[in-house]
Amino acid sequence: MLAELYGPLCAIRPQQDFAIAHLAQSLDGRIATAGGASQWISGEEDLRHTHRMRALADAVLVGADTIRHDDPVLTVRRCAGANPVRVIVDPDRKLRADHRVFTDRSAPTFVIVAEDCSETAPLGAVEILRLPRANGIIAPAAIRSALAARGLHWLFIEGGGVTISHFLRAKCLDRLQLTVSPVILGSGRPSLSLPEINAPGLGLRPTVRRVILGQDVLFECIFGERDEG
Ligand SMILES: NC(=O)c1ccc[n+]([C@@H]2O[C@H](COP(=O)([O-])OP(=O)(O)OC[C@H]3O[C@@H](n4cnc5c(N)ncnc54)[C@H](OP(=O)(O)O)[C@@H]3O)[C@@H](O)[C@H]2O)c1
Repeated sequence: MLAELYGPLCAIRPQQDFAIAHLAQSLDGRIATAGGASQWISGEEDLRHTHRMRALADAVLVGADTIRHDDPVLTVRRCAGANPVRVIVDPDRKLRADHRVFTDRSAPTFVIVAEDCSETAPLGAVEILRLPRANGIIAPAAIRSALAARGLHWLFIEGGGVTISHFLRAKCLDRLQLTVSPVILGSGRPSLSLPEINAPGLGLRPTVRRVILGQDVLFECIFGERDEG
């Protein structure tokens, strides 16, 4: 299983730009309750998997709401390996300064902020990266370029659904891992949200590989020639 799952990911050449995202979702496509609770949707094997992905990555990136609700530290603890650089997308600097990623100094940390954000108060031991905002968001391609320019080529985008949807819509993901867990939440925060389509045939049809992770099934979407979206 390890070779099957990680072999292709270990084969990415150093300095090759590569972005892979991961979400753990319920059978009905939810990644958290409406109130933001998500610990834990998937089982221990998927949790260990996310730590292995962090260990492979140059940087782990999350959206502001994931920091707000989970207060994660985004370090490697369930396996051996070095901590990746942490990247938080918080365009208007709305996050409080006491979140653990801003205070624990366990890994270098970047906060991606919109150029037009007026907030300038200090924010712990982090480096602020200002990038242009267009059509309400910071372009995922600009985020990838800014990180690559700092030597961060292998990106693990760990959520949440809004952040990953921006990357997917912008065709800025090489791979997307969706771990589906045998639970129905019936309400809550959605996994992916893309612009409406009016026929199932217009959906994305990437190459997919499947890996069993205990009770869960990980679907890895490989975007490339067969991505017709
Ligand atoms: N099950 C899982 O695998 C998993 C993983 C991670 C998180 N979660 C859960 O999911 C929830 C959070 O996910 P979410 O989808 O609601 O939010 P999210 O993706 O964590 O954060 C979204 C916010 O990040 C900012 N952002 C992200 N990309 C941006 C871009 N390209 N340009 C500008 N701003 C950008 C925006 O902040 P502004 O609103 O300030 O504009 C956006 O509203 C939490 O409840 C967390 O527990 C679950």
